[in-house]
Amino acid sequence: MAQDYVASIPFDQRLYRQDIRGSVAHTKMLARQGIIGESEAETIIKGLNSIREEIEQGEFQFEPELEDIHMNIEAKLFEKIGDVAGKLHTARSRNDQIALDMRLFVKEEISKTIGELKTLQSSLVELAEANKNIIMPGYTHLQQAQPVLLAHHLLAYFEMFQRDKERFHDCLKRTDVLPLGSGALAGVSYPIDREFVARELGFSQVSTNSLDAVADRDFIIEYEACAATTMMHLSRLAEEIILWSSAEFGFIEISEAYTTGSSIMPQKKNPDVAELARGKTGRVYGHLMALLTTMKALPLAYNRDMQEDKEGLFDTVDTLHSTLRVFAEMVRTIKVNVKHVREAIKRDYILATDLADYLVKKGLPFREAHGAVAKLSEYAIARDKSFHELSLDEYHSFSPFFDEDVYTITLESSLAAKNVIGGTSPQQMEIALTRAKEILRQTQNDKVCHSEWNKVE
Ligand code: ARG
Repeated sequence: MAQDYVASIPFDQRLYRQDIRGSVAHTKMLARQGIIGESEAETIIKGLNSIREEIEQGEFQFEPELEDIHMNIEAKLFEKIGDVAGKLHTARSRNDQIALDMRLFVKEEISKTIGELKTLQSSLVELAEANKNIIMPGYTHLQQAQPVLLAHHLLAYFEMFQRDKERFHDCLKRTDVLPLGSGALAGVSYPIDREFVARELGFSQVSTNSLDAVADRDFIIEYEACAATTMMHLSRLAEEIILWSSAEFGFIEISEAYTTGSSIMPQKKNPDVAELARGKTGRVYGHLMALLTTMKALPLAYNRDMQEDKEGLFDTVDTLHSTLRVFAEMVRTIKVNVKHVREAIKRDYILATDLADYLVKKGLPFREAHGAVAKLSEYAIARDKSFHELSLDEYHSFSPFFDEDVYTITLESSLAAKNVIGGTSPQQMEIALTRAKEILRQTQNDKVCHSEWNKVE
């Protein structure tokens, strides 16, 4: 009973590749330093590689009484090569071993995550480019505020995912530190070569305090915090996809592959994928909070509590990967309903700010202009008239600064006027699209890992 309670093998078997990779590098180093014999090292490495194959063929029997992935592999190594297997764990503890496995794992996941973020960004750019002339109502407080290009709205998400990529890159810097060689907590008393192991495993740094190295799970917390932020962005995009595909908005249609019908109401196409992404955001936040709480007030150095880092992390990476992938595909299928987007702009009240700007250009202080147009809007709305249906006399009763040219204010002129860096003018949109594509072309920055992940030897 207690055995099952403490066992981590049901979930940490997922780390077999990292564990074996670390053991192979460690063995090579032990031989190089003369701590074990060359032929002993060869035997151990051969044994480890055959265990990896066995696991990959699905032939390996994981035993809960052997607790974790480390002990399962080591026990099998004894079975395969006999007593020399006992030399593998020289100058090592499970405490620095698990810290290593987790860092190797997180490094790989960062690399995958950044790649997936990039693919999603490409989908957004494609969609923006295909719809770059469509004008939609821009919202604040979910109230129609000012006209914007639909493409501008889509590229706002490009920016969020760009920052997410940067956050993961930054998380990588602190993950990319080799903890092996810290022993149980104090370092080890053998003449090991940590820099060699770091090079073998593709770490750019070696940890500098053994107690910290075995007690630190900040890199997992950071990954989960980055993941939580990305999920928050995905949930905002999900929410807009849900709103925009409702009958009330009718801005977009997503492919049926990402919706399901209702079992009772035949007309419905529910945006389940987007809703689930919105929902799954909660569990990713939960894993972050859980690990922060697990680590809170833990005395140095390793404590078994830390074994609780794994399931939350595994679920976080799985949820994030699947959400990013499905979104990249779903976004590609979005069809914009130009007519509905245009018709959603009720009357032309969305041009109120442009009318105020117009008065400012005629010499009125902005606050006064704002006041005049507020009254004008109230007047027009009460009479159910668009701005452009008002007579010049009606305009004049709100400000003498209004002239014939007030009728040249349109959605198009409003957009064209927003020609500042980051603004929604068509001219700026061209610049933004070029910039976005350039960012996606610079794959260099996204090559985060120098080592070959899947290689054990
Ligand atoms: N299964 C453990 C974990 O995941 C590995 C380290 C165990 N160390 C120990 N001293 N029991 O944290």
